[in-house]
Amino acid sequence: MSNDNQADGLRQLMTEQRRSQHPLRVIGVTSGKGGVGKTNVAANLAVLAAKQGERVLIIDGDLGLANVEILYGIKPNRHLGHLLDGDVELRDVLAEGPGGVKVLPAGNGVQHLTRLDDGQRMRLVAALEEIEDDFDLVLLDSGAGIGDNVLFFIGAAQEALLVVSPEPTSLTDAYATIKVLCQDAGVRHYNVIVNQAGHEQMAREIFDKLSSVASRFLDVRMRWLGWLPRDENVHRAVMSQRPLVELFPSSPATRALNGIADTLINEPPPAQLGGGLKFLWNRLVREARAA
Ligand SMILES: Nc1ncnc2c1ncn2[C@@H]1O[C@H](COP(=O)(O)OP(=O)(O)OP(=O)(O)O)[C@@H](O)[C@H]1O
Ligand SMILES: [Mg+2]
Repeated sequence: MSNDNQADGLRQLMTEQRRSQHPLRVIGVTSGKGGVGKTNVAANLAVLAAKQGERVLIIDGDLGLANVEILYGIKPNRHLGHLLDGDVELRDVLAEGPGGVKVLPAGNGVQHLTRLDDGQRMRLVAALEEIEDDFDLVLLDSGAGIGDNVLFFIGAAQEALLVVSPEPTSLTDAYATIKVLCQDAGVRHYNVIVNQAGHEQMAREIFDKLSSVASRFLDVRMRWLGWLPRDENVHRAVMSQRPLVELFPSSPATRALNGIADTLINEPPPAQLGGGLKFLWNRLVREARAA
């Protein structure tokens, strides 16, 4: 066997080992206030995770605005709505993003999610079953606010990735979001990122405040994932419609995102959490039977 083949074999073995230890993770990206950087964080973490060998799916759950598509500079012509209407198969809806990331554009399909008819429910269930084994990490990016469809989406996730900004209202809004997600959707595990902070101490203080209030009044676990500085390159990357981490690999925000991606991937939450695609599947099947 050549050295190259040996190295490939070893890499394959390590990836398989990681997969058997950590089955599919579904993480809902959320925030209290809008515009705090959810989509930028999710889109770039997806690319970094894919670079580490993870098979990543990012679901663009933003109604109408299709933010992930814009940041990746892609223009898929199909979305979840087409799948629900029975026009196409899931593989025809998944789009190719940068670095091998797959994108499921939800489009106005998201609006349907809380009021699916039987046929649509069956199609969604079949589609989820089809992709369950194809991915290691699913990131759900949703728009601002907690409507019924966002609750449905994030409620199917095992963990939330909560993005907060240093503004005082962001903190109270973040707490309100955690409360709704915890009480109405049973989401208990929160990975917190403080975005656009002046320095680490400021970011840590924000996390500490949020974490102490949330853990005192709610049955939730809060985990510090990291912080991102304010970095003009984020805006430049948005304007170029290329991922920041590819366009500016040594910018301050990219360096921070690298650390966050490492923690997120290599230190998953200890306990096996409920939720995930299987959970969503089961719930959909139960609802279908009840109907
Ligand atoms: N670390 C950062 N430094 C500088 N600018 C940033 C940073 N993070 C995000 N931004 C800017 O903030 C704006 C909003 O970011 P983004 O679209 O990711 O927010 P969002 O939370 O997804 O918004 P929405 O709630 O509307 O979905 C973008 O224009 C982006 O350029
Ligand atoms: Mg967004």
